Amino acid sequence: MFLLTRSRRTNGRIAAAGIAIAATVGSAAVWAQRPSVTLSPAALKEIAEVEAEINRIEADTLERLAAPPNNEVQQIELLGKAMLYDKQLSVNRNEACAFCHMPEIGFTGPVSELNRTTGSYPGSVRTRFSNRKPQSHAYAPLSPVLHYNPGQGDLVGGNFWDMRATGRRLGNPAAEQAEGPPTNPVEMGLADFACAVYRASQRPYRTLFEGVWGAQAFAIQWPSDVEDVCSQPGPPPANDPMPVHLTKLDRGRAAATFDQMAQSIANYEISGEVTAFTSKFDAVMANKAQFTPQEQVGYALFRGKAKCNNCHRDGGPGEDPLFTDFTASNIGTPANPMLPYYAEQQPDERGYAANPTGAQYVDPGVGGFLTERNLLSHPSAVDARWRPLAAENMGRVRVPTLRNVDKRPYPSFVKAYGHNGYFKSLKSVVHFYNTRDVLQRCGPKDLGEGTTCWPAPESTDNMNTKFMGRLGLSDEEENALVSFLQTLTDRYFQR
Ligand code: HEC
Ligand code: HEC
Repeated sequence: MFLLTRSRRTNGRIAAAGIAIAATVGSAAVWAQRPSVTLSPAALKEIAEVEAEINRIEADTLERLAAPPNNEVQQIELLGKAMLYDKQLSVNRNEACAFCHMPEIGFTGPVSELNRTTGSYPGSVRTRFSNRKPQSHAYAPLSPVLHYNPGQGDLVGGNFWDMRATGRRLGNPAAEQAEGPPTNPVEMGLADFACAVYRASQRPYRTLFEGVWGAQAFAIQWPSDVEDVCSQPGPPPANDPMPVHLTKLDRGRAAATFDQMAQSIANYEISGEVTAFTSKFDAVMANKAQFTPQEQVGYALFRGKAKCNNCHRDGGPGEDPLFTDFTASNIGTPANPMLPYYAEQQPDERGYAANPTGAQYVDPGVGGFLTERNLLSHPSAVDARWRPLAAENMGRVRVPTLRNVDKRPYPSFVKAYGHNGYFKSLKSVVHFYNTRDVLQRCGPKDLGEGTTCWPAPESTDNMNTKFMGRLGLSDEEENALVSFLQTLTDRYFQR
């Protein structure tokens, strides 16, 4: 059973008026720093605040269990939310999914200092950072199941920057995605997916879970050492890949329950509380608001001269405006030298090295999934028929939605953009599309980086030259595009 419905409940959240952001170019400020897996005091302070906010949201959510909604769809959404904010599902009981996906940032990374510097986030084991910037989990369940589209001659759909959560098994990419982080060594870090099921069985939402999914969900004979085994970070030893020792029957049951946990989370992600369609853009499309003249100019450029709409599609007949066409491209994003991942070559105290290639690492994108190259989590299988497409997909990442791309809690909050978090402002992204192939290459420690020069792309494999690089936009036109992007922030109005 997979219930995929979109409820438009708003849970009484009030739309915050859109905050205008002073758009500034600038990603050069950090070039002097080196990648490090140590968290700075500034980052630690913000992390403590984020953790407190997660605890608060989780407590509120668990309180609702006392009088759960009487319809099953809303029950599943409540379960999904309780799990998305549950830090107990990580090895050190310190990292919920939401740690990297908070509402006030449009369900992406909530630590301004990390966005400004590393671009990526530490896992439950705090010295292990991921190789990529957190995507938004809003709108993600609306991605099609990954498939080859012969008309486009391309792979379409899936979740993750490299499409590796295909959705073919569970019928939804976001559900398969949710099975990645719990056992990803650089994220929630459990040694066995059964640990996530065990930890969930100890939580106050267990009764609701059994009510929705059936009493057998947690009817599993746990070994006496389960607590111990589940407090050891993964990955598991090669000779004991499933260290929670269960009977075959119980392992099958745990797998089914893990699927139901993931489906619950995906159902919460697609609920009206997350996938809201309440931006100014939506209001304008419904004739309930008007663009400012500058936003209007920006929208026309987006669809015209600036060519954005070729990939970040604003809808079409029978198609929601999700601002992605779910294909993958290489736009030539420069490497982000601040990714701590580059420094994760040395085995840590548990003997784990996330990045065997060290400073040589180049993100292979979708091609890396198709060749199954050092995937940090691998929730879905590769279809053998896709393997021949690996070469033409090297360096390409899935086109992200632009919804909530400017959503931030206060104007000076820094967001990172691109798969590696290289870009630090929307103005900078737009300037890049406009001038990638016009400006010169930056020299070492070039102060013009991001304004008068660009560094080399992280990868030139399959780089798109057709729709970008030399757009001929004026500074005013760049700014108009930014102000259009700022109309995509949800909670402009309330449903
Ligand atoms: C340590 C930070 C971190 C944690 C914890 C985390 N994520 Fe993510 N999330 C990321 C990153 C980074 C990506 C992109 C990873 C990639 O492409 O390889 C991502 C991608 C996603 C996506 C894909 C969106 C899309 O458009 O394809 C979804 C959905 C998502 N996360 C939901 C979750 C859920 C659910 C959990 C908990 C089970 C979770 N995340 C835990 C960092 C995190
Ligand atoms: C050929 C397809 C394509 C076109 C055309 C295109 N984009 Fe993108 N866009 C992408 C891809 C792919 C990424 C992710 C790039 C990466 O991670 O390196 C991206 C990333 C972005 C991001 C960062 C989003 C985030 O969450 O990190 C923004 C903002 C953006 N694009 C806006 C635009 C605008 C504005 C235009 C028009 C000027 C445009 N794009 C044109 C494919 C495209």
